[in-house]
Amino acid sequence: MKRIQNIEISGKKVFFRVDFNVPLDEYQNITDDTRIRAVLPTLKYALDHNAKLIISSHMGRPKGAVVPEMSLSPVAKRLGQLLEKKVGLAGDCVGPDVKKLVSEMKPGDILLLENLRFHPEEQKNDGAFAKELASLCDVYVNDAFAVSHRVNASVADITKHAPLSAAGFLLQKELDYFKKAMADPQRPLVAVVGGAKVSGKLGALENMLQHVDKVIIGGAMANTFLKNMGYAVGNSKVEDDLVDVAGTVMKKAAEKGIKFYLPVDVVVANRFDPKADIKKVSVQEIPSDWMVMDIGPATSLLYSEVLYDAKTIIWNGPLGVFEMDAFSRGTIAMVHNVADSHALAIVGGGDTNVAVHKAGESERIDYISTGGGAFLALMEGKVLPGVAALDESDRG
Ligand code: 3PG
Repeated sequence: MKRIQNIEISGKKVFFRVDFNVPLDEYQNITDDTRIRAVLPTLKYALDHNAKLIISSHMGRPKGAVVPEMSLSPVAKRLGQLLEKKVGLAGDCVGPDVKKLVSEMKPGDILLLENLRFHPEEQKNDGAFAKELASLCDVYVNDAFAVSHRVNASVADITKHAPLSAAGFLLQKELDYFKKAMADPQRPLVAVVGGAKVSGKLGALENMLQHVDKVIIGGAMANTFLKNMGYAVGNSKVEDDLVDVAGTVMKKAAEKGIKFYLPVDVVVANRFDPKADIKKVSVQEIPSDWMVMDIGPATSLLYSEVLYDAKTIIWNGPLGVFEMDAFSRGTIAMVHNVADSHALAIVGGGDTNVAVHKAGESERIDYISTGGGAFLALMEGKVLPGVAALDESDRG
């Protein structure tokens, strides 16, 4: 894989694929610009090297149609403020008007193309569409880690057509941190896996068992494991079809000598509602018509003990329904525990990142990935299609 710092971009038309899929409120205001800030080092580097910056991204899932609410216009404005430069917004990402705008660009100019997903070809990894995108540039740079698990035209096929392809600084940093944590980690290596469903995390769990020393489980997915162990989990969310699979995962962990931690107490509610009645109970005493909403205080303490000697931590997924304050304590406690640890700590996934920010700990955690699905794909041991495409183009 070529890296942007090792290629000549001065005076060149450089096509940046970034992930500006940022959250917007109902008035199209950006509510979190982390993903925009994350690519500033790459964009500033290109500006310092007198490149012409053609920037492209998707926003939301418009399913191949033009959806005005999913325009990148708010992003163009914010990017301009952050770079303190004029950022032009093209009306489309391909076509004669875009070609004309690009042909008029001078070194240091910045042009943001409109949402790639307004064209159905983008998500179909369509060759002709990828070729048309590539025809805009001399150099293609992928700095879109968070969408590099998608086989999309601007991520995958485009490298077959661009004269030269390379990775930007954000993509490099994401891959380098993950490799540092997984390839030759300082031990003990602890995986913290939470979230609603075992089904979504099964691939990650199975792969992590090849690497880790300890696993901590939280979130609604813990219920499926607890059920396998014979606990009655009341009205809690459970994936009944995966109860046996959960048992197999725990058996594999035991065979490998991996310590596998489940909640010992939980916060339960009589309904899925922030105003529900709540109580703390041990996992032996979950009332039959109540549901598990968070890990309990004894579990938080146990998990902090587990992390005490950790040298490397990889965390994905909240430990409870943290978006409701009453059920956020377990996840927030975990954020503080991870921040307090002396381990190299890497956190990924949209919800987990929100929890880190909510707890005010973003500065004390070594690396917070910008990826959700892409981070999970790395945990599953997959090579991201966007990375594979860069590797292939490098091999020629
Ligand atoms: C994300 O937010 O995870 C990325 O932007 C990818 O978006 P997608 O899940 O719609 O492909």
